[in-house]
Amino acid sequence: MNANQIREKFLAYMVAKGHVEIPSARLVPENDPTTLFTGSGMQPLIPYLMGETHPKGVRLTDSQKCFRAADIEEVGDNRHTTFFEMLGNWSLGDYFKKEQLPFFYNFLVDEVGLDPQRIYVTTFMGDEAAGVPKDDESIALWQDIFAARGLSNGIGVMGSEEAGGERGMHEGERIFVYDSAKNWWSRSGKPANMPVGEIGGPDSEFFYDFGGEHDTRYGAQCHPNCDCGRFVEVGNSVFIEYIKQADGTFAKLPQKNVDFGGGLERIAAASNENSDVFLVPELSMIIKDVEAKTGKAYAENHKAFRVIADHLRGATFIIGDGVMPSNTDQGYFVRRLIRRAVRYADMLGLPEGSFAQFARAVIAAYGARYTNLVTDAEKIVGAIEAEETKFRTTLAKGMKEFDRAIADGTLSTDDVFTLFTTYGFPYELTEELASEHGFVISRGDFDAKMGEHQALSRAGAEQKFKGGLADSSEIVVQYHTVTHLMLAGLRNVLGDHVHQAGSNITGERLRFDFTHGEKMTPEQIAAVEAYVNSAIKAQAAVSIEMMAKDAAHAAGVEGSFWEKYPDEVKVYTVKDAEGKVYSRELCGGPHVENTSTITGTFKIQKEESSSQGIRRIKAVLV
Ligand code: ALA
Repeated sequence: MNANQIREKFLAYMVAKGHVEIPSARLVPENDPTTLFTGSGMQPLIPYLMGETHPKGVRLTDSQKCFRAADIEEVGDNRHTTFFEMLGNWSLGDYFKKEQLPFFYNFLVDEVGLDPQRIYVTTFMGDEAAGVPKDDESIALWQDIFAARGLSNGIGVMGSEEAGGERGMHEGERIFVYDSAKNWWSRSGKPANMPVGEIGGPDSEFFYDFGGEHDTRYGAQCHPNCDCGRFVEVGNSVFIEYIKQADGTFAKLPQKNVDFGGGLERIAAASNENSDVFLVPELSMIIKDVEAKTGKAYAENHKAFRVIADHLRGATFIIGDGVMPSNTDQGYFVRRLIRRAVRYADMLGLPEGSFAQFARAVIAAYGARYTNLVTDAEKIVGAIEAEETKFRTTLAKGMKEFDRAIADGTLSTDDVFTLFTTYGFPYELTEELASEHGFVISRGDFDAKMGEHQALSRAGAEQKFKGGLADSSEIVVQYHTVTHLMLAGLRNVLGDHVHQAGSNITGERLRFDFTHGEKMTPEQIAAVEAYVNSAIKAQAAVSIEMMAKDAAHAAGVEGSFWEKYPDEVKVYTVKDAEGKVYSRELCGGPHVENTSTITGTFKIQKEESSSQGIRRIKAVLV
């Protein structure tokens, strides 16, 4: 089966179990300052896992586009990709372990047709420091599920990954118990790593045994969590019922949630009995094309082929979600993907211009579900083509510069800087080249140099990504509400043609793109500031109501991307005691309850052009 077939089968299966299908959110999170990309299915659903009412109910399913930038350099083995689709189903305080564990298990066995002998599961051992007990309930449920199918159901208590490698698997064992580094899930990993206010819980993972020899470089014995490639994780049921407290302990959320995520391609790979996800048709079409164009064999050039296929698909999807290659934030990752792919293409002798064809192949393979790819095909292909051409012209010269730079046995920060500014080598590309030649370079030194030259502010973006969860504190929520007030102010001052075109909030500032063709005058800027500050002074209350989407549209509720919202939408209104409405806008939240809790005075620091017909504002609360 190919990935498209598995996806549609899963969604139909979950709908038959009472779930409502929701569309994939964009790869670039809206109003979520904590990460640059959507990296898991639960990310767009966090407010609902924490207790807000979801307009579509308590059982949801989707296939979420995900991008994990941290995996860019992992690409090369048989199972890591930067872009992937995560199949998901959620219980928002509805069903729990007893229903969830058989859902996906039965799907794998009865719908996909996997051999039940080759499916293994893992469960949570407990974490004393976090005060969360061992997941005996899941263990008992698994024992029954396997016994009912006449399968062995022994329990192997492993502990850490390393301990698992020492102990190995014993005859008859199918349920393995690991520590919180392996069987606890949150966006920031194990309990000890979670920031205050973050949610998570114990999980239970599914592994498929592809067979083959164990590689002892990964440990004495093989086991489900071994990285040698024999066992591949295909799905994870997270039981999200905990929230981290200020004192480091965990409290129970108001509701018990299920957050399931399954790797679409890995399931397709299992159904094809081949652990190489790049042989799934949606990626193998590029692999075959690279073979045809270069006359080189995939089997002898795994890494280069995989990098090209993965990176071109990732770039196609991210540009499709509105991000052009650039030197900042998400755009930098698009640039990095394409430029890194160019270097590998160059090594294989792939003719210039091939990338446009690969992008078109990705669009054709996924267009039926992700129609935005088809609508924006020319923009996507054009951007990839332009970036390929741009980098091709300097790559050869840059490689010469690199060779010249290392000729004296060192690679200085100045050289790294020149490779970046003159030859367009993303820092990480130089780092990779350096390491291939046995050199180590320093990110800190490079950033310091960049800072000196005030060339760009990319270090901030990197920080934001690395931190995973940066700042989800009150101030971000304040900026979120201020963004609504500002949009209303802009519409008031400039006219009804103004809509949101993008938004990015951190604990320090808001950044906002909107549709408007001209530079704002100082008077207009002052008027918008005054509008927002009067709303803050007015001590206006923020209320939430659910409305039918059509009715909200007709009532003049402000919003962009209407087509992305469900039929029933959430509307936030900011209104003072006299009934003056400052803002009424479609949104997922969260917001302050009253504008009186907004600390400071609103100030627009910068108003500039962002792209054709789009202006960008940076503003702060001071
Ligand atoms: N949120 C869980 C994961 O990403 C399902 O693995």
